[in-house]
Amino acid sequence: MEKIEKKIRLGGNDDKGTVYDCGKYIKREILRHHFEKTAEIYYLYKKKRLDKLGIVKTYIKSNQQSYVHQKHILTYPHEWTYSMFKDSLLFQLILVIKLNQIGLSLKDFLPSNVLFDHSRPIFVDFLSLIVTKDLDKEEWLYDGEVDHSRKPEELLIKKMLIPYLLIPLLVFVLKDYKRGRDLLRYKACNFGNGIPKWSDLFEAQGIWSFRLIVDVVKLRLLSLLPVKDYFKTIEKYLKIIRSLDLLNENSGYLSYYEEKGENFSLLNKENWRQKQKFVYGQLKKIRPKSVLDIGANTGWYSMLSEKMGASVIATEKDEAVIDYLYQKAKNNNFKILPLMLPFKDFLEKNSESNYIPSTNRLRSDLVLCLALLHHLVLGEGIDEEIIVKTLSKLSINACILEFVDFTDEKIRFQPDFFPKLGNKDFKKYNLKRLIFLGKKYFRNVSVHPSTESSRKLILLKNPI
Ligand SMILES: C[S@@+](CC[C@H](N)C(=O)[O-])C[C@H]1O[C@@H](n2cnc3c(N)ncnc32)[C@H](O)[C@@H]1O
Repeated sequence: MEKIEKKIRLGGNDDKGTVYDCGKYIKREILRHHFEKTAEIYYLYKKKRLDKLGIVKTYIKSNQQSYVHQKHILTYPHEWTYSMFKDSLLFQLILVIKLNQIGLSLKDFLPSNVLFDHSRPIFVDFLSLIVTKDLDKEEWLYDGEVDHSRKPEELLIKKMLIPYLLIPLLVFVLKDYKRGRDLLRYKACNFGNGIPKWSDLFEAQGIWSFRLIVDVVKLRLLSLLPVKDYFKTIEKYLKIIRSLDLLNENSGYLSYYEEKGENFSLLNKENWRQKQKFVYGQLKKIRPKSVLDIGANTGWYSMLSEKMGASVIATEKDEAVIDYLYQKAKNNNFKILPLMLPFKDFLEKNSESNYIPSTNRLRSDLVLCLALLHHLVLGEGIDEEIIVKTLSKLSINACILEFVDFTDEKIRFQPDFFPKLGNKDFKKYNLKRLIFLGKKYFRNVSVHPSTESSRKLILLKNPI
């Protein structure tokens, strides 16, 4: 019997065809009259081994007038750490320069043309590749332009590079990360919410250093001057962008493991305590191919899981710690994909957003939710049932959920972290109820000691 291909249509405005998620791969079906032209680019891509430049691995299916692309985890630019965003921008600019050597170019600049293979950016919008001399056939670049003698490259910089990439990046440099993420999230191309503007940068919160003022003046001038040599101009953008400093070291959470005395070597198990040993034991038993580490901090358990052979997604709500983990993953080539994704983002409903819910995109064999539940319930006021239900949606096989009770010293001595503590509803925050909820959403529930007696590790298996 012929196997029927199950496919989900993916968004994006592509006038040449439609893109589908087919489970294990991505399929791009091309309209008949566009196929020949795209095939020319494909053969050049093959001949010149452009996958080595970071363009998504692609195969042609001529009989079906389509392409098959390697599937990467779908993430959105507003979920990347600020350094990932900067690296994705540098990657696109470098790509333009390298493609020029073989007469190719990119017909647009958008953050979402890139995905991350762990810490490595991959250019996934295959049909953005075009023959450079065809750039002036992109009529949309001239929409609303009075002066039709302007070069298409100049319009590409003005209409895409600056609003969609450069302005959010500069807002990150000011360290107004929330506004930067909001620009990426709500003012994405074709969302109908307008496009990021220079005024968004000037309205951002943050301190303007002398260096930043100089850089912004240079970038503004560059954007106003006519583009004589496109590639030299791109080089100039590259030089300034490379030097921009985005780092944020203002986080109490950067030294979490040192302060807790848990910055153990991953290689020497002897010093490990009950919590580390339990998680290690489960990793050995379950052998997950994928792990989602929620509230990963600087990634001790992410790195442990990676060492045990898993591909890891690490999520956080603290800008500094998750960017630290990105740097570490990038420098060591770890199979870890860090994401700035507060737990509340897992609760977003499909209908409320232009984005595919993270509970569909980030499902993993094993989910770790360690020393986080008390922050979510007593700090943010999220209902335990919603949390357990969300964990069951995210877990393919199992979840390790750590419960921290009211007697724990972190709760007793740091009440500022837990503003909902006085709320009478939170009397129902107890192990018994958590086990009850665990059994509602998972088939197997077992409770194990953690390092401190005020903490328990709940192993939830086989989501219902
Ligand atoms: C106590 S640490 C635990 C780190 C690690 N899971 C462990 O057990 O060693 C809690 C971490 O959760 C993060 N966090 C707190 N609230 C969060 C939320 N709503 N979403 C994602 N991460 C959160 C904090 O930034 C912090 O790094």
